[in-house]
Amino acid sequence: MGFWKEAFAVVKENDPAARYNVEIFLTSPGIKALAAHKLSHFFWCHHFKLIGRMHAQLWRFFTQIEIHPGAIIENGVFIDHGSGLVIGETAIVESGVKLYHGVTLGGTGKDTGKRHPTVRRGALISAHAQLLGPIEIGEHAKIGASAVVTKDVPTAVTVVGIPAKIVRVHGEISPERELTKLECARHVSFYDHMGGI
Ligand SMILES: CC(C)(COP(=O)(O)OP(=O)(O)OC[C@H]1O[C@@H](n2cnc3c(N)ncnc32)[C@H](O)[C@@H]1OP(=O)(O)O)[C@@H](O)C(=O)NCCC(=O)NCCS
Repeated sequence: MGFWKEAFAVVKENDPAARYNVEIFLTSPGIKALAAHKLSHFFWCHHFKLIGRMHAQLWRFFTQIEIHPGAIIENGVFIDHGSGLVIGETAIVESGVKLYHGVTLGGTGKDTGKRHPTVRRGALISAHAQLLGPIEIGEHAKIGASAVVTKDVPTAVTVVGIPAKIVRVHGEISPERELTKLECARHVSFYDHMGGI
């Protein structure tokens, strides 16, 4: 499916208020920001980095969504409302991911190179969630509104709070023992990544 066909289909699937393509095109900042990012990313990848950044800044002005031209964003991503959404240079966002307003896919300021999150297929990143560092958010994971996430999140779990903790696995309440095991694994992988501190 082409970018536009998929983008309209994703908006209709996720936004009950969306009616027809022309209306979506005229009123959805998310779809415009994602389309503009295609061009900014093209400039970025073809040695016109400054033009890519200027183009991204122009669309930030119109949409209130800031996507660094270096970010890799697959087709089929859904951005609702979008204002205040920031996606950093080395972030990767896979198809089917849902992003709401106020979300940051940012760096911690401590990492170099790959320093922004990777968000796997179908994950839901709720409004104002802050995802920081080169972490991985597993497929179909759900991040609660306003959560702060600095460690990897496994596939198909729900995390909420500051710092974000696992509260559901596959949408179900799990025994405390299971949750503690998952949290320990996250803790260990975080400190492995930090170089065994
Ligand atoms: C996280 C979320 C997606 C729900 O996921 P879920 O897997 O269905 O989880 P549940 O609703 O069963 O909630 C799990 C637990 O986390 C709590 N919880 C849910 N969201 C929370 C949040 N943002 N902050 C703190 N706790 C939260 C629930 O109260 C519940 O607590 P309990 O175990 O004591 O009962 C949802 O609550 C959320 O944050 N949605 C926001 C979506 C959004 O951004 N909308 C904006 C539209 S404009």
